[in-house]
Amino acid sequence: MAPTHSLLLSSLVTIPSLVALISAYPTKGHELDGFPPENSVASSISWSDCPPELGAPKALQCATFSVPIDWDKPYGEHFDLGLVKLPAAPSNNTSKIGSLFINPGGPGGRASELVAQVAMGALQAEEFLASFDIIGLDPRGVGLSKQMECDMSIYAERVSLYPQNEEEFEQLVSKNKRLGESCREKTGPLLEHMDTISAAKDHEAVRVALGNEPINFLGISYGTQLGAQYADLFPNNIRTLVLDGVVQHSDSEAANVLTEAYSYNLGLTHFFEWAGKNESSALKGQDVEALWTSLLTNASKTPIPAPSCNVTECRADVNAEEIRFNAQHFLAFAGRDTGLGSSWELLSSALYNATKGDASALSTSFSDPTAISFLGIGCLDWTHFTSLTLPSLLAKEAMATGYTPFTRGASQTWSLQNACLGWPIEVKNVPKKLNIKTKTTVLMVQSTFDPETGLPWALGMLEEIDNKVLLLREGDGHASFALGGEATKVVIEYFITGKAPKDGLVVSS
Ligand SMILES: *[C@@H]1O[C@H](CO)[C@@H](O)[C@H](O)[C@H]1NC(C)=O
Ligand SMILES: *[C@@H]1O[C@H](CO)[C@@H](O)[C@H](O)[C@H]1NC(C)=O
Ligand SMILES: *[C@@H]1O[C@H](CO)[C@@H](O)[C@H](O)[C@H]1NC(C)=O
Ligand SMILES: *[C@@H]1O[C@H](CO)[C@@H](O)[C@H](O)[C@H]1NC(C)=O
Ligand SMILES: *[C@@H]1O[C@H](CO)[C@@H](O)[C@H](O)[C@H]1NC(C)=O
Ligand SMILES: *[C@@H]1O[C@H](CO)[C@@H](O)[C@H](O)[C@H]1NC(C)=O
Repeated sequence: MAPTHSLLLSSLVTIPSLVALISAYPTKGHELDGFPPENSVASSISWSDCPPELGAPKALQCATFSVPIDWDKPYGEHFDLGLVKLPAAPSNNTSKIGSLFINPGGPGGRASELVAQVAMGALQAEEFLASFDIIGLDPRGVGLSKQMECDMSIYAERVSLYPQNEEEFEQLVSKNKRLGESCREKTGPLLEHMDTISAAKDHEAVRVALGNEPINFLGISYGTQLGAQYADLFPNNIRTLVLDGVVQHSDSEAANVLTEAYSYNLGLTHFFEWAGKNESSALKGQDVEALWTSLLTNASKTPIPAPSCNVTECRADVNAEEIRFNAQHFLAFAGRDTGLGSSWELLSSALYNATKGDASALSTSFSDPTAISFLGIGCLDWTHFTSLTLPSLLAKEAMATGYTPFTRGASQTWSLQNACLGWPIEVKNVPKKLNIKTKTTVLMVQSTFDPETGLPWALGMLEEIDNKVLLLREGDGHASFALGGEATKVVIEYFITGKAPKDGLVVSS
């Protein structure tokens, strides 16, 4: 998972309806033959300059590709996916291999934006850029692919994801339901088909239209979920597949909370230690663990002002729950300069400012479409049985508080399990174990202390992917490709040669 967080079926998901869905899926791999259905989509894609209002780097080309809203009704209503291409850079000594899709995760993150960053020089990798047309296909309901919309005034209602009594529980269910209904009204029937299986089918249709060459795919964070589901459906159509910062979809809800929240909690303790003594930390010399605890105690009594925010952009003050959720993404790039300093430096500054009465950097954003798409996709991909009644939710809160004292379960997983409670659309992509049997070797990349997609998920996926190699990066931070270190080099060599490294490789950057 990557960017932000925060919510969705005409009433609660009912257990019988999910049982029906589960039994409709075969339990072993289910490769799809004859996809896409004949004449359901165009047979080619035409690229042109991007529309000026996009402000895209000059090197990028843009295209649209019309697909069915519901792949089960391939001749029904269609809508346009939007995609960008960074053409393989001209080179005298490297020839082009093919197209390579990148997905940055989220869910809700924009592939088009990531490719734009690459076009602007974010990735120093000449041979790689000369070898591939890099394709950024925004998943359905995201960015250029019919961005989902909702009533943001409902989104902005301050309702706790940790209800303590029936009244708070009802408030949460009511908000989620009204928000989901507003999204359905503004977005239309696509909202019912934003799940990751549908997105994987879109990628397959685009791959075929691009010339039907085997796919090269780099899935980062939640993009690993997309890549894994693609590989489950289309195992024979892959040249190379990298899963960087691995999500496992099939675990129990409680285990999923623990994996992500514990990973975040652990990353935070590493940050505390660093921030107390590193010269670039605004909190150098302080007991940062104690400061965190004291700050949260204070903010739970009186929210801390966020003077740089205004009503349209972000919330005017910040409570303890919001600090716990909003601090997580600062751990993503532990040692890497994000352009403003490393994300650990930024977090130390954000917390320092909060102790001085300005929590703006930790305030919840109201203007981030990623957060809306996060809900649209997440609520179709993940169940929330353990949140359906107040007693089970309270038991889950007890687990979260006891096991992860600094974060109390705060995580994107917690957001989805509790913000999807009451969402008016049924889960479509019901979690289940995959059975991925590719001819090509899948390259999994995982850091030991990833604060979002924790190591237990990557280890879990070893059981679901037959032919794979796990590259371990020792260290903090979320995913590895963007760091530009040794892991990036290994990934690039795999993409270019098509040969996976030996299993058991461990790198430190
Ligand atoms: C390619 O070769 C030509 C002719 O030798 C040379 O002028 C040009 O600079 C080279 N381009 C690159 C990218 O190396
Ligand atoms: C092309 O060859 C030059 C000279 O040998 C080398 O410096 C450069 O890195 C090569 N470029 C690629 C894309 O392989
Ligand atoms: C919390 O509030 C107390 C009492 O006002 C204050 O002494 C303390 O410094 C505050 N803690 C932080 C981390 O701001
Ligand atoms: C509030 O945000 C809007 C939208 O970005 C901006 O136009 C306006 O100047 C901001 N107001 C203040 C007081 O910062
Ligand atoms: C301070 O942190 C930076 C960034 O993580 C790191 O490169 C540097 O080595 C650290 N300094 C010390 C003295 O540990
Ligand atoms: C903390 O406040 C200072 C001074 O206003 C500001 O320059 C800095 O950007 C703030 N830190 C963060 C992370 O926003």
